Amino acid sequence: MAVTQIQFLPFHRASIDEQDIESVVRVLRSGWLTTGNEVRQFEGAFARYVGARNAVALSSCTAALHLALAAIGLQEGDEVILPTMTFSSTSEVVLYFKARPILVDCQANSFQADPMAMERAITSRTRAIIVVHFAGIPADIETILDIARRHKLIVIEDAAHALPTRYKGKMIGTFGDITCFSFYATKTITTGEGGMMTTENAEVADRVRMLSMHGISKDAYKRYTAEGSWRYEILDVGYKYNMTDIQAALGLAQLAKCEAMQARRDAIATRYSSALSSLDAFECPVTPSHVTHAWHLYVIQVNPSALRISRDTVIEELKQRGIGTSVHFIPLHLHPLYQKALGYRSGEFPVAERRFERALSLPIYAAMSEEDTDRVIDALHDIAREYRR
Ligand SMILES: Cc1ncc(COP(=O)(O)O)c(C=O)c1O
Repeated sequence: MAVTQIQFLPFHRASIDEQDIESVVRVLRSGWLTTGNEVRQFEGAFARYVGARNAVALSSCTAALHLALAAIGLQEGDEVILPTMTFSSTSEVVLYFKARPILVDCQANSFQADPMAMERAITSRTRAIIVVHFAGIPADIETILDIARRHKLIVIEDAAHALPTRYKGKMIGTFGDITCFSFYATKTITTGEGGMMTTENAEVADRVRMLSMHGISKDAYKRYTAEGSWRYEILDVGYKYNMTDIQAALGLAQLAKCEAMQARRDAIATRYSSALSSLDAFECPVTPSHVTHAWHLYVIQVNPSALRISRDTVIEELKQRGIGTSVHFIPLHLHPLYQKALGYRSGEFPVAERRFERALSLPIYAAMSEEDTDRVIDALHDIAREYRR
């Protein structure tokens, strides 16, 4: 079957409606494009939504993670514990400080980091733990917070996948000391590119806001308005990590639809799980009853004892059938940087490696129809039949 003859179902397509477009156009017509009132409103609405005291809008989740480490005063030679099963951002920010990311393996039968491995990795140089809520399912946050408290460590949550995610009914955004969200184009809500940091600590929020604007005094963003003053002071070495009003207007419109878009993802996940559970070729994700899954990703495991082809060939077969997929993630310790510069080796984290080799992320997004979902299901049934062992 040639790919050109059928409509390609992409791995992701953003859900942008007329309200989103009107919100952005309103800002474009307003005469003020960069950080201003829209950003302040977005921060307020986001903080209320996740139940946090403070929210700071930034240019990305990576920027939020970087400034989180700057705000805690991470130093050269410090260690930060984080999962090997994550995206580059979670760890590269540690390297910005010439500090060392200490990688840990996944829990058995899970993509989440193993809290016991985290505890074993603690040394006198450990400053912080970065928790990743993989795919939008919360990590074992209570156990990790307990370990961190006992060892006096800071907990930063990489919640790039976790909006809206609830752990025992409470929204992710206030468990750790600092939480970092992403509004990258594929996330549950998007601003194209963008991020948000939440924290209960107002001093941290003020410092992050200052660092995100070249390290200049607090209300720098107001300096061209009637309320502000031209005079400013540079207080620290800062960065250019602020969010624009164009992005924030889109973020506000998207935030209003966050629950509805998650419900749509949830319905797709339910349909996938019920239609695929009869196949032993694929293992579906399991959601514990005490959590709400954001369903940023729906990651299945390809079972080599039931299928004659590898995960990579399943990807090719799906592509032939006009379906886009992805893989999350290549564990960090398998990348050249981590092996050459930090001495990690293949084979070091066997659970993550085994899960990576079998992982396959299916399309899941609010703009997908039931027919789209059924196309993916039918294609997987077809592949399972054709290549059964
Ligand atoms: C786990 C994780 N953390 C951080 C990020 C970085 O997010 P951003 O693109 O907003 O910087 C991503 C990106 O997808 C991610 O998957």
